[in-house]
Formats: sequence, structure tokens, C-alpha cells
Amino acid sequence: MRLPHIPPYKTKVVEPVYFKTKEERANKITEVNYNLFNLHSDWVVVDLMTDSGTGAMSEQQWSEIILGDESYAGSESYFKLIRSVKDIMGFEYVAPTHQGRAAENILFSAVVKEGDVVPGNAHFDTTKGHIEFRKAKAIDCTIKEAFDTSLDHPFKGNIDLDKLESVIKEYGRERIPFINITVTCNTVGGQPVSMQNIKEVMTLARKHYIPVYMDIARYAENAYFIKTRETAYADKSIREIVKEMFDGVSVVWMSAKKDGLVNIGGFIALHDASLYERLGQFTIIYEGFITYGGMSGRAMGALAEGLKEGIEFDYLDDRIKQVAYLGQKLKDYGIPIQDPVGGHALYIDAKRMLPNVPQSQFPAQLLGVEAYIEGGVRGVEIGTLLADKDPVTGEERFPEMELLRLAIPRRVYSRSHMDYVAATMANIKDKCKSLSSGLSIVKQADILRHFTVELAMI
Ligand code: F0G
Repeated sequence: MRLPHIPPYKTKVVEPVYFKTKEERANKITEVNYNLFNLHSDWVVVDLMTDSGTGAMSEQQWSEIILGDESYAGSESYFKLIRSVKDIMGFEYVAPTHQGRAAENILFSAVVKEGDVVPGNAHFDTTKGHIEFRKAKAIDCTIKEAFDTSLDHPFKGNIDLDKLESVIKEYGRERIPFINITVTCNTVGGQPVSMQNIKEVMTLARKHYIPVYMDIARYAENAYFIKTRETAYADKSIREIVKEMFDGVSVVWMSAKKDGLVNIGGFIALHDASLYERLGQFTIIYEGFITYGGMSGRAMGALAEGLKEGIEFDYLDDRIKQVAYLGQKLKDYGIPIQDPVGGHALYIDAKRMLPNVPQSQFPAQLLGVEAYIEGGVRGVEIGTLLADKDPVTGEERFPEMELLRLAIPRRVYSRSHMDYVAATMANIKDKCKSLSSGLSIVKQADILRHFTVELAMI
């Protein structure tokens, strides 16, 4: 008999899960104005709000917590982090930050100015937020295939080269501080970017003398997809693929809370000494001294180790297969998801699941509310709420896709939790088909509103 696949780890510490009744959850979600961010975690059964900072650390990482050197300057944990990043990614300079958006704040403070344009593949919301906050523009050049959830394409995170070139022609290279490639592309479904596409973007960028930057929160998962979906890379190691992905890239920044396998942390890594010096000024103002940048010594030590574990093939294979397992179950139950399944999450297509709820009434958020009431499963809306209003016109922006994301924390949940989630979604499928009205906004912030928005049921 062929032995079944099992995770390459076992449990040493456990955390309780709390159960409430459906009625209790229905009351609670009304009380918190239908905003899933307002729920206390003990009101959630399976928490798939994010894979960011929610993973379980290994025993080696916990040992780094004990070894952490908390010196204000020149901590040994900092040097461990630098060695890890250099060794895995090949960059000379590393600026730690407390998380990804802090890296964006520092980096964009140095390179993005009013009137600039940053083309890329579906920028993450904090990335877009930090660009728009500086009165610059983020232009989405993702291939159109990404926006049809039923269409099969191995690299839906790819950049459309014609679109990219037309943006460069329209705005001129002087207004484009960099081209941004996000690996994997979270906003369109944790979808990977192929090595071929990365190389083609690099060639185009070089032709126009524009540097390429990468947002590498989930770079190891991207490398796994290159290995398993791009024939030429089948026999290459994840390490080799990672090095090749970053070859010629000027700057990367990372929310280490994802593929860094830590609960907090981030960094910027680059080759250019003078840019690194400029970043240091902003790090000192916003984060802390340049050898810790908002992280504790122990957090840097845990990250130095997490980066190594994050590129192990067995770990990645187990991780991606767990996400794919839930994806297959959902499909078997007739739940419409972004296909093929991406790296860190399932993205349920709310337009298809709630076909009678208009996009102006936030169908993906409504789907999130229904999943929460039914099974205590918490996802997050990636749709009209997240898209924010247009900062210039103040008008509502309707993204092409209206999704509920179920993100899987790393090394946390078992297969039976995945079965529970799939059953929850199957149970609400018929109800969702019959719903014809959704939610309206009672109160909202101007930027990144989805975190604090208050909603009412129509
Ligand atoms: N870039 C990408 C691609 C991200 O997915 C995130 C965060 C960030 C940047 C910002 O990093 O949270 O450490 O400040 N994504 C989380 C998520 C929040 O749920 O997808 P951060």
C-alpha cells in the first residue's frame, strides 16, 4: 500500500478552540456592525482571516527566542538575520522593519513622490495605500485571465507586458520610480508569477531604465509553483529558484509574517549602498535604530531561522497541498473559487455564490458574515470594501472580482479543520443563492476602510 501524505511535523504545544452556538454568533456579528475584524478571537472557531503572523513556530525558532540578543545596537540576532537573508536571497544590505507595511513606509518615503506612477501586478492594499497616501498612483497590469475565477491558468499573477509597456509610454519613465512584482499576488488569489514572466518584465524594465522591485511576502510559495508548474524548473531546488527569481531585482521588501514563518517582522533588502543609507534615516525616524528596525532581538532570531525553514521543499509541499485539499473539497461541494488554487488561501467568488446581491451591497462581506454565523469560520473580504473609494473623485470603486478569502495559517490547522470549513461553506450555499440584498455602510474611514468600517444589514 502507498503510504498517505502526512505533515512533516507534529504538535508540541496546543491552543484551545472555543465553541459558541449559531444564535450567539448571529447576535455577536450584529453587535460588531458586521465587521469581522471587530470579533474577539475566542468568538471564532476556525480563523482564516489571514495567514499573516498566525503561523506556528518550530522548536528551533522557539530556541532562538531564548537566544535573542536584545542589545539596542549591533545585536547578534540582527547579524543572524542578515546572514540568512544574504544566504537565501543574495542581497547585500538588509533593513529590518516591524512588518511589511513599515517596510513600505520607509522604502516609499525614500523613492515615491507626488505624481509618480507605480505599475505592477495587483498591488496589495497597504502597498496601494502607501502609494496613494503620497499622491502617487498604483496601476494594475495583471493579465486579464486573473479576473475570471473559472479560467484555468498556471500563473494568474503574471504581468501583462503590453499593458505595462503602454503605461510606461503613457507616463514616461521619469514618473515611474520602479515596477512592482508581488509574489505571490495576494489580491488576485495568492496566484504565482512565472519565472518566464519575471524575466520578461526585467527585460522590458531594463530597456526603459526602470528598476524592478519585489514585494516578497510569499516568495517561497511562488518558488514552489515555479518548480511544480514551469517544466524547466522541475529539477531545480527551491533555493536555486529563489536566487534566480531575485536575479537583477534592485530591491525586495518582505512582510516576514508570511513565508518568514514568524508572528511579527519584516525587512527591506537591496544591493544599492546609497539607497540603503537613505532608508536608514527613515528607519530611525519611524521604526528604531537600523540594526533592529522595530523588531526585538528574539523576533529577528526567530525570523533568521524561519526563513530557512520556509524554503524547505517538504514544508512547502505539505502547506500548498493542504490549501489545495480544501480547494478540492470546496469545488466538490460546488463552491465557486478562484481556480487554480493559489498558495496561501482559497478565494470564493461572491459574484457567483451570491448572484442576486448587487456589488454595491458588498456580497463578499455578506458571504463572510454568513460563514461566520454558520460555522464560526472567519474569512476576509477582498472586494469592494477593501478597494476603498477613489481617493481623487471620492466615488465607489468596483473591482472586477468580489472575493471572500479563506487564508490558511502555516502549520496550525489539521485536515479535519479543513473538512469543517468545507462543510460550513456547503451548508450556506443554497441560502446564499437565494439572498437578494446585502449590507450598507454606516461609517467608514477615508483610506483602508475595511479594517474599521461599520455596516448594517439592508
Ligand atoms: N504585501 C503583501 C503581498 C501582503 O499580503 C501584505 C499583508 C503586506 C504587503 C503588508 O504586510 O501586514 O506585514 O504589514 N498581508 C496580510 C494579509 C495583512 O492578510 O494578506 P504587513
